[in-house]
Amino acid sequence: MTNRTVAQLLSDDITLQEVEIKGWVRTFRANRFIALNDGSTINNIQCVVDFENTDEAILKRITTGAAVSIKGELVESQGKGQKVEIQVNSIEILGDSDPEEYPIQPKKHTFEFLRENAHLRTRTSTFSAVMRLRSSLSFAIHKYFTENGFYNMHTPIITGSDAEGAGETFRVTTLDAKKPSLTEEAEVDYKEDFFGKETNLTVSGQLEAETYAMSLGKVYTFGPTFRAENSNTTRHLAEFWMIEPEVAFMDLDGNMDLAEDFMKSVLNYVLEHNREDLEFLDKRLADEEKKLPQAQRSPMNLIDKIKFVVDNNFMRVSYTEAIDILRKSKPNKKKKFNYIIEEWGADLQSEHERYLVEKHFKCPVILFDYPANIKAFYMRLNEDGKTVRAMDILFPGIGEMVGGSQREERLEVLKEKMKALDIPEEELWWYLDLRKFGTAVHSGFGLGFERLVMFATGMSNIRDVIPYPRTPQNAEF
Ligand code: 4AD
Ligand code: MG
Repeated sequence: MTNRTVAQLLSDDITLQEVEIKGWVRTFRANRFIALNDGSTINNIQCVVDFENTDEAILKRITTGAAVSIKGELVESQGKGQKVEIQVNSIEILGDSDPEEYPIQPKKHTFEFLRENAHLRTRTSTFSAVMRLRSSLSFAIHKYFTENGFYNMHTPIITGSDAEGAGETFRVTTLDAKKPSLTEEAEVDYKEDFFGKETNLTVSGQLEAETYAMSLGKVYTFGPTFRAENSNTTRHLAEFWMIEPEVAFMDLDGNMDLAEDFMKSVLNYVLEHNREDLEFLDKRLADEEKKLPQAQRSPMNLIDKIKFVVDNNFMRVSYTEAIDILRKSKPNKKKKFNYIIEEWGADLQSEHERYLVEKHFKCPVILFDYPANIKAFYMRLNEDGKTVRAMDILFPGIGEMVGGSQREERLEVLKEKMKALDIPEEELWWYLDLRKFGTAVHSGFGLGFERLVMFATGMSNIRDVIPYPRTPQNAEF
């Protein structure tokens, strides 16, 4: 008799037999029915205890949260709600759980409460479903790139560069915080620091990924990314995971095609492989939205939303067209936006992005050809001299999901751009080398993994789709 998972016992092709199973008690009802879960599926298996022939002391220890090992017969269920159940022959308590103290009671908890108990929140149906989906999406991403001829590359986590130039980096140092070594000019002397220079946690693996694209052809990184932006929103983390493919000889159109095909493929993967979790989350979202006024409810349920993205083309719209649409929009005319769009060149805020995808186009939108001065230094300048080959992919309910571009491959143009932005050539000599030796058109993008998980699970706070969120003033666990 081998150990089985709950998922195996509930699968269609299981034969009725003697089984052994270990898991955690979700509920224990009428001194008789244990709902047991082991994380392998959203569903619990019902274990029926013969209470008349079970030690009273043991029955008392079958409490919510306890770890148990059960041996019994898998039989067709007498009751409704499940096809099979286990008639318990013997039960061993592996780990007690004091019902007075165990935080996860069999009732509805708020997500705030569960965030404070993030070490136990995957004992709930919602969070176990979210994290199984997260794992599945991660697998689907590696599968997609592997099957499409990409190499996985590990870009450094500690770096000397701020790829995005936003200055929102976490410093990495071993200098004494109270008494750092100082130079003669009384500045912090980074020569004395561990790496002999100023270093920080990476904000993007892109620049290093470009070096590998220019030799291996098609590469991607999927790693942790750190940003010290002090934005306490439901869409920002200080530590998040980013997927960054980079491809030689590919232009911006190819980049858009790749991003769209990739996102459809990984979302389709979970539609096919995580059906039960999605159905659970679909229902959860519908229940939650019932509390909202009609106007605030989503027009589609979760599964239909994912299917819609998989089955329909993303709209491709230039920044200039988007500005026109926004300028003529009702909320702009009636001054309902916090930032009123007045002229070409304005940076888009999330309220504008959401208007475009949720109200105007009602589908994912790829915005491209942004003004050069609101985008990073490495993006390829267009012939008009004022826009760059940038693209952002905006999703309903999420806003910006992807940011990418065709890269500036012309040495002189890149040097000029860096000069204008005060980026020292010495710092990025290796990046410039790529433009000196065998330069070519190349492109890539970055997908925020947690934003993808939000979309696929219908969760509305990014803190609820990563195991242990890091946000301003919060690094518990
Ligand atoms: O648009 P971003 O800043 O682009 C880059 O970093 C490029 N170097 C990517 C590339 O071309 N290889 O970030 C990419 C994506 C965003 O679209 C968003 O989904 C996510 O990363 N992101 C965040 N996710 C969670 N918390 C944050 N603080 C995020 N900042 C960006
Ligand atoms: Mg961006």
